Amino acid sequence: MIKPFKIGDIEVKSPILLAPMAGVTDYSFRILCKELGAGVVYSEFVSAHGIIRENINTLDLIKFYDEERPIGVQIFGDYPEVMAKAAKYVVDNFQPDILDINYGCPVPKITKKGAGSAALKDLVLMKDITQAVVASVPEVPVTIKMRAGWDLQSIIVEKAGELLEKASVKAIALHPRTAKQTYKGNANWELIKLLKETVSIPVIGNGDITKPDDVFRMYEQTGCDAIMIGRAALGNPWFFKQANALLHGNTAPEPTIQERVELCKRHFDLLLESRGTRKGLYLMRKHFGWYIKSFPGAADFRVRLVEAESIDSAKSILDEII
Ligand SMILES: Cc1cc2nc3c(=O)[nH]c(=O)nc-3n(C[C@H](O)[C@H](O)[C@H](O)COP(=O)(O)O)c2cc1C
Repeated sequence: MIKPFKIGDIEVKSPILLAPMAGVTDYSFRILCKELGAGVVYSEFVSAHGIIRENINTLDLIKFYDEERPIGVQIFGDYPEVMAKAAKYVVDNFQPDILDINYGCPVPKITKKGAGSAALKDLVLMKDITQAVVASVPEVPVTIKMRAGWDLQSIIVEKAGELLEKASVKAIALHPRTAKQTYKGNANWELIKLLKETVSIPVIGNGDITKPDDVFRMYEQTGCDAIMIGRAALGNPWFFKQANALLHGNTAPEPTIQERVELCKRHFDLLLESRGTRKGLYLMRKHFGWYIKSFPGAADFRVRLVEAESIDSAKSILDEII
């Protein structure tokens, strides 16, 4: 059932990929997911305008290490020329394996400027941005991550699929909700199947995978080539190990509380090293909430961890759990 999967010329070892997630998929989290079996990891979405203005905070979001490869850097923006310039800047200065365009972000702050999922209601803009980006970085495969349409009355999976394939993108990841739905309702996997039937480039299914054996269901129902995992990986990088084990006919056990806390500590250390102590502690708070759950007393530990004012006190609370 599992076919070898390539994005352009890049051999991807596992078809289970880590989805781009703003505020989450930085180096510390990506490397853990990679070590546990994610086939490709992605940066969070990065503003094309910020890139071409060389905004330091924006450029920081793009940094990655060789051990994370293959890695995709995702950009978003409104104007084709700006997107093309930003893509070239990213490729020239950072050399990612994949350059991904975001046509999925439904947040009004982004869409009202014509970026993210706004392209779903303007296929001319989608075509212009995609063609401009592909032409600006011929040495790197350009991929797309998109939703299924602006609203339920305007599903554009087939039209977008055709135009994106014609524009020479090398894979499309589809989260089959509309922009208007945000996260309401269910991801409609039938639309992943429809995209797979429409294009001959690889299709990456995404949306509502919550447990490892869901990957089987998605493969079977849609025929997709790979699967991208978002929320199910939060506080749970083991997801990749478990899903890969299943795909190879094995099982990987649930992590023990001890393993969960040890990984959380490692994540914390990586975050502190890569983002500095103040920011690292601040950023780790949400991860504590995702790791420390589903065992007796977890809620109390979580509250104490989120309120911890120093790195030492957070670490001693984690030790207490073990
Ligand atoms: C916290 C968070 C941040 C996200 N940020 C991005 C982003 O930067 N770029 C993107 O394309 N999608 C982003 N997404 C959407 C996810 O990549 C994914 O498409 C969505 O969560 C559905 O997949 P899931 O059901 O596996 O979570 C984000 C989702 C979450 C939960």
